[in-house]
Amino acid sequence: MRAIRIGLLGCGVVGQGILRLLHEHAGSLERRLGAPIEVRRVVAKTEGKARAHHVPAELLAFDAESVLGDPEIDVVVEVIGGLEPAGRYVRTALERGKSVVTANKFLLAEEGHALFELAEERGVDLYFEAAVCGGIPVIRVLREALVADSVVAVRGIVNGTSNYILSRMQQEKIDYAVALAAAQEAGYAEADPSLDVNGGDATHKLTILATLAFGAKLLPSHVTTEGIEHISAIDMKMAERFGYVIKLLATARSLPVGLLDLRVHPALVPQSSVLASIHGALNAVYLEGAMLGPSLLSGYGAGAMPTAMSVVSDLVDVGRNILRDARGRVPQRTVPSQLLLRREVQPAGMHVSPYYLRFSVMDRPNVIAKIASVLGAFDVAIHQMIQEARAAGPRAPVNVVVLTHPTRDDALRSALREIQMLSGIVEAPRAIRIETAA
Ligand SMILES: NC(=O)c1ccc[n+]([C@@H]2O[C@H](COP(=O)([O-])OP(=O)(O)OC[C@H]3O[C@@H](n4cnc5c(N)ncnc54)[C@H](OP(=O)(O)O)[C@@H]3O)[C@@H](O)[C@H]2O)c1
Repeated sequence: MRAIRIGLLGCGVVGQGILRLLHEHAGSLERRLGAPIEVRRVVAKTEGKARAHHVPAELLAFDAESVLGDPEIDVVVEVIGGLEPAGRYVRTALERGKSVVTANKFLLAEEGHALFELAEERGVDLYFEAAVCGGIPVIRVLREALVADSVVAVRGIVNGTSNYILSRMQQEKIDYAVALAAAQEAGYAEADPSLDVNGGDATHKLTILATLAFGAKLLPSHVTTEGIEHISAIDMKMAERFGYVIKLLATARSLPVGLLDLRVHPALVPQSSVLASIHGALNAVYLEGAMLGPSLLSGYGAGAMPTAMSVVSDLVDVGRNILRDARGRVPQRTVPSQLLLRREVQPAGMHVSPYYLRFSVMDRPNVIAKIASVLGAFDVAIHQMIQEARAAGPRAPVNVVVLTHPTRDDALRSALREIQMLSGIVEAPRAIRIETAA
């Protein structure tokens, strides 16, 4: 029987998970695929590094060419991460007629268009289920299950690290820095957590999801992105008083006017909403189809075994295509690259939503009246307002929290710039969108 022969580039968290899964599920995988999956070579970077016991030492190599240059290898699995050298390896594999399975959202969001075009040109597959939401099969759902529908919105929590941090802040009333340190200690955040907490990772994932959902040619630069670094324990507490929790939301909507609305930012979501109950490292994605209506996918968006599961599922799909000589049967992004649409994206300033605003002010007469007057001048209507009781001495600032009616982003930002200049305002006002549709 012909085996599907693979070369693994990367032997870290995900790579070692893949080797474990291929070993433990070898029998069922062979029955389902109709052929065994044979690992020919595993490439890592650091010689002498300790690996899990199920990593076959005799397969380890430290030179990517030992995989890319092996004519026997059908599929290259790229789980190194980052743009380079991973991008160069993926390009080389595709150019040499090998199918590729990757978990690399950074690479696909930034350089995916050229890579998918190359795969189509060479008649090979480029699969990427693990690149978005780890173990949750959202790519397959968008690409295959919803192929008869027209997706109007994708909304979700797609970064487990930031969700873990926000969940700890919410549950334990601790500040951002303390929750981040706890996430790092628990292994949920890397030593450099920048892309997770600044919204960059969620933006990569949203770019990939929106490309599939709307059949449009999109880049991360089309997404309005804000991170969670400025969320404080006081914002969590105040949001709770109004019946909300704060989540990092990724949203992609097709607007009736034909524009796409693409955003990643922290948002207040109602405590009663499903997304509010997605805690810790879990992910969840709402898909709204014109025919299907709303549907929800939830599960582990990261971790060795959920991510390995998605990679190996892709390997089975790719292997089936190879065995039947049907590579490229399913367009990887729902349509062939040349049929992706050019869609205009709504500028961030045009977005309309209610807002949570927090002003740190001196507790003295007329400060609130001046804030209200500036908001009114920019057509920002107040829906609710509370002022914290002063805890310390007479010169200590107090927090005033305002919930607005729906307001345009650019009008609100202009009002806040003016308010920041008023006397009695102690620090830059905080503004967080309220997402009632969550
Ligand atoms: N971790 C998750 O839960 C998760 C979830 C979804 C998607 N992903 C994606 O999966 C990919 C891998 O993530 P990971 O967490 O497994 O990363 P990781 O633990 O840091 O592993 C990276 C692996 O790549 C190897 N490597 C680095 N540079 C290399 C080079 N120049 N040549 C050959 N090998 C090289 C490293 O070698 P050494 O071992 O010798 O250092 C290591 O084995 C990334 O794209 C990530 O975004 C990860």
